[in-house]
Amino acid sequence: MNDTVKPASPAPAGTPAGHTPYSDWLQTDVLHSLQHPVSDHPGEHAWIVSAQVSELYWMLIIKEIQAAQAQLRADDLTGACRTLRRVVAHHEPLNATWRSIAWMTPVDLLAILSCVGPKYGKDTALQGWTYRQMVYLLGIKQGEHLQHFLPQPRRWEQLSKALAEPSLYDDVLAHLGRKGFAVPAVVLDRDFSVPYTPDKAVENVWRDVYANPDEHRELQQLGETLADIAEGFSAWKHLHLMATRRTFGARPAYFGTEGIAWLMPTMNEIPFPELWSARGFIGDPPAVCPHARGQGNARAAE
Ligand code: HEM
Repeated sequence: MNDTVKPASPAPAGTPAGHTPYSDWLQTDVLHSLQHPVSDHPGEHAWIVSAQVSELYWMLIIKEIQAAQAQLRADDLTGACRTLRRVVAHHEPLNATWRSIAWMTPVDLLAILSCVGPKYGKDTALQGWTYRQMVYLLGIKQGEHLQHFLPQPRRWEQLSKALAEPSLYDDVLAHLGRKGFAVPAVVLDRDFSVPYTPDKAVENVWRDVYANPDEHRELQQLGETLADIAEGFSAWKHLHLMATRRTFGARPAYFGTEGIAWLMPTMNEIPFPELWSARGFIGDPPAVCPHARGQGNARAAE
């Protein structure tokens, strides 16, 4: 031992033997015991860490959204916006995890995956319950994904509950209804377990929220925060699709169908639909793109 390094002083009262307050609080020993590569590929550790970090962020986002829902139910709009800003922030490091495995070629990926199957069986990320719960909370309710959790009864129950409960968007619409906006009862009292059908009256609500920049400022801030969250989520899906293209190409995936063809339609699953569609009607004058208008004028002047 280096002479300048003194023997460890006893841990502060309350700290278990063999720990420092830091290791005890952050559970670093447990955390660093959770990576078990199955191949001898030098990049598998990066893959595992990247996926585990994503798992942690998905759970973090779930907890934040649930907190924001409680705040919305108490009509604490300021608190809900503050909580949801954190969700926007979490998407940055979550999406950056793709950089950690961007070096992968098809040969790298197959070297790893060819060892996963024999040890663990046929796997798909669709078996990941944190992602599915987050997606349900964002309002994309597809009950068919529950089939993957039949071997995990606790998770199946947890996800069935999340499917049947209001999403973040449902709580936003309920809050808008209590604020006096004309959110139809058929939207507020619907069966939350079935996929949401966009509604013209809800589109009009968002149009009215945004109509005057000086009115409903806090609701506009809520709308922009939701738009940021939808963008962060969609950006993750785009990065995932591109990583699949780079490493997997058009091979058949879990369902035997081409993986990219399976993923492509999910790119259109953008949360909070009328918040987006209403943008075609916000602003004065509406309906015509200023560029198109300019072109038309130029032609008229010729
Ligand atoms: C770069 C290598 C990857 C490839 C080739 C790939 C491929 C696929 C494919 C083909 C699917 C469709 C379902 C299936 O057939 O399994 C899928 C779904 C999915 N993957 Fe990946 N994946 C990769 C990496 C990852 C990583 C690192 C994560 C996150 C930790 C991840 C998370 C997901 C999730 C959450 C879904 C479900 C998407 C949805 O429901 O819209 N994937 N992946």
